[in-house]
Amino acid sequence: MYKIVVVPGDGIGKEVIAEGVKVLQAAAEVEGITLDLDYMELGSDRYLRTGELLTDEDISFIRQHQAVYFGAIGDPRVAPGVLEQGILIKMRTAFDQYVNMRPAKAWHPYTPLKGEKNFDILFLRENTEDFYMGAGGVLNGKEAEAKMHLKRELYTVDLNLSSSVSSDEEFAFEVGMMSRKGIERFADYCFKAAERLGKDKVTAVDKANVCTSLYGLWREIFDAKSEQYGIPVEYMYVDAMAMALVRSPERFGVVACPNMFGDILTDLGAEIMGGLGVAASGNICPGGVSMFEPVHGSAPDIAGQGKANPIAAILAGKIMIDQLGRPDIGNMIEWAVKMAMKQKKVTADMGGTLNTVQAGDAIAELVRQAR
Ligand code: NAD
Ligand code: IPM
Ligand code: MN
Repeated sequence: MYKIVVVPGDGIGKEVIAEGVKVLQAAAEVEGITLDLDYMELGSDRYLRTGELLTDEDISFIRQHQAVYFGAIGDPRVAPGVLEQGILIKMRTAFDQYVNMRPAKAWHPYTPLKGEKNFDILFLRENTEDFYMGAGGVLNGKEAEAKMHLKRELYTVDLNLSSSVSSDEEFAFEVGMMSRKGIERFADYCFKAAERLGKDKVTAVDKANVCTSLYGLWREIFDAKSEQYGIPVEYMYVDAMAMALVRSPERFGVVACPNMFGDILTDLGAEIMGGLGVAASGNICPGGVSMFEPVHGSAPDIAGQGKANPIAAILAGKIMIDQLGRPDIGNMIEWAVKMAMKQKKVTADMGGTLNTVQAGDAIAELVRQAR
């Protein structure tokens, strides 16, 4: 029996999670396991009604469960960042889900890359630090309103402002920070994943040619961990990595990214697989409560129209079952998704004719046939 909190969220989150649950329940039935699902309302409607985002009570409730199955949040009625920071990023940090696992593999014939390239990449994105720590502010002349509190020391920063800007003028800043502990535990996870998957290297992405302090520490630690695990590390600057992912994705196995670059590259990773509609992720806290969600957002442009592809949410369910210790069930779900793609039982974004519910039904039915 698995105790799971289900958060449909906003927009197409609601539509795709319904299909994900349908498929998980079909798999549970076939395998004789029980999913104990508790639904939780998080997102724009609750926020607009009550002003609440992710509350302490919500966090305590989630702690009594093994995992969170999450749709998406985001709504044009709410200012950018309110729901994203107050719910999603808060969840990732409150539960210390420091690894964001985002597999990208070629789904033939849906990959838009020419030449039938075969690739199977495990993107691992550091998920709690970097530019996502909310360390920012606006300095307006002598008035300073900064959200940054560095506890240990006071830092004096000499800003190299261009000649047109004087330090009396208003400017805004957002600081990228990573801790030794944060990079070390993440790097450990990356090298262990490479070991487990039999990959011959870890590719670490950064911008160490510009952000020398931040990604200098990153490289120092990846060098040391590479030595420790006896697995080579290959460094790629994020700009070159964007190019290489389109040109030769088959070169890569485990790709380790700082938080912000990982966000960007995994949308690219999604697109080269077959689109955002098939990209799934797990926010992992080893030994703790992890959260599983599609890579995509609430897609207000297609919400409520039955157009959303449920595969990303269904594969997020697969990653969840894998992580809960039943990779056999996860593989069965992935097999059903593969069959649905092969039989063209897919939504319009993949060139099919099915709506969201029909696509979910087809995959649930294939899961039942898998036995
Ligand atoms: P998005 O991922 O929601 O959509 C990008 C594009 O991809 C849109 O054209 C959309 O229609 C399409 N798309 C996405 N998922 C699809 C699916 N399953 N099937 C078919 N097409 C799909 O990104 P956005 O439009 O930049 O963001 C919308 C909102 O979602 C924003 O508020 C953003 O902050 C939020 N967001 C939330 C999450 C999350 O909750 N994990 C992730 C990303 C974005
Ligand atoms: C994602 C999303 C989030 C992120 C946003 C909505 C905060 O884009 O999960 O990829 O940047 O991590
Ligand atoms: Mn993203």
